Amino acid sequence: MHRGMENPVQPGRPRGTVPAPLRYVSRRPVIDLERVSKTYGDGATRVEALVAVDLHIPAGQFVSIMGPSGSGKSTLLNLVSALDVPSDGRITIDGQDIGALDDDALTLFRRRKIGLIFQFFNLLPTLNATDNVLLPVMLERAVTPDDRARALAVLGDVGLARRAHHRVHELSGGEMQRVAIARALILEPRLILADEPTGNLDSATGRSILELLKKTARDHGTTVVMVTHDRTAAEAGDRLVLLRDGRLEGDQAVGPAAAGGA
Ligand SMILES: Nc1ncnc2c1ncn2[C@@H]1O[C@H](COP(=O)(O)OP(=O)(O)O)[C@@H](O)[C@H]1O
Ligand SMILES: [Mg+2]
Repeated sequence: MHRGMENPVQPGRPRGTVPAPLRYVSRRPVIDLERVSKTYGDGATRVEALVAVDLHIPAGQFVSIMGPSGSGKSTLLNLVSALDVPSDGRITIDGQDIGALDDDALTLFRRRKIGLIFQFFNLLPTLNATDNVLLPVMLERAVTPDDRARALAVLGDVGLARRAHHRVHELSGGEMQRVAIARALILEPRLILADEPTGNLDSATGRSILELLKKTARDHGTTVVMVTHDRTAAEAGDRLVLLRDGRLEGDQAVGPAAAGGA
C-alpha cells in the first residue's frame, strides 16, 4: 500500500488541540484496467498480446513491470497511454473512460495528463534540448520566461544542464533519452509512463533517473508505471507486476514497502 494512505492520523497529538485538516488522499485507482485484452492480426498471424488483464493502480504509486520479451509490456503501456486501443475490456485513467474519447480529446488528454518516456519518442532533431523539453508547453500556449527557467531546471535534474543548447542530433543516445525524460516531466503530469527509461544509460545516470522518478512520485503524488528488464531498477518502485504471455503472473510489493517499512 502506498505510503501515507493507511493511517493518515498522526499519533501522539496532544489532547484538546485542533487537528490539522487531513490531506485528502484518493483511494480511487488512477489507472484502472478491467479485463483488458489486445489481439494483433488474425488467422495464422494472430497474437494475443494481452489476455483479460485486471490492474488497479492508486494515485502516487510507482509500479514496475517486468516480463520476458514479447510478454505484452509495451502493449500495456501503449494502451494505458491511449496510443493504441484494446480489443476488449475497459481502461479508465483518472476517472475518465478513455475508450469514450475521440482522437482530438485523446490528444489533449494525453498531453495534459501523461508524461511519456518512450525511446526518443517524437524528439525533434533540429531543435535544441531546451526547445524539445518545451514542446508540450508550446503545444498548449506561448512559452514564458518561467517556462524556460523550468525547462533548464528539469534538464539540470536529468544531468543535462550543459547540453541545454545542443541540438538533439548532436547528443548521444543516453542524452536523448534524458531529454525525453525532461520533456515528460515539464508539465508535471499526473501520470508518467516509461518504457525502459534507463535502458540506454550508464549505471550511475540510470540510478539518478530512477531517483528522480521516485522523488516525483513521492513529492508530487505522480503515478509512475515503468517497464524494465532490470530487477534492481524495478526495486526503485513500490510494486512489481510480472507479465507472461500477456497475462498477469505476479504482483508484489517491493522496496521499503516490501521490507515492512511502510
Ligand atoms: N503492432 C503489432 N502487430 C503485431 N504483433 C505485435 C505488434 N506489437 C506487438 N506485437 C506482438 O505482441 C506481443 C507482445 O509484444 P510487446 O507488448 O511489444 O512485448 P514486450 O514489450 O513485453 O516485449 C509480441 O508477441 C509481439 O510480437
Ligand atoms: Mg517492449
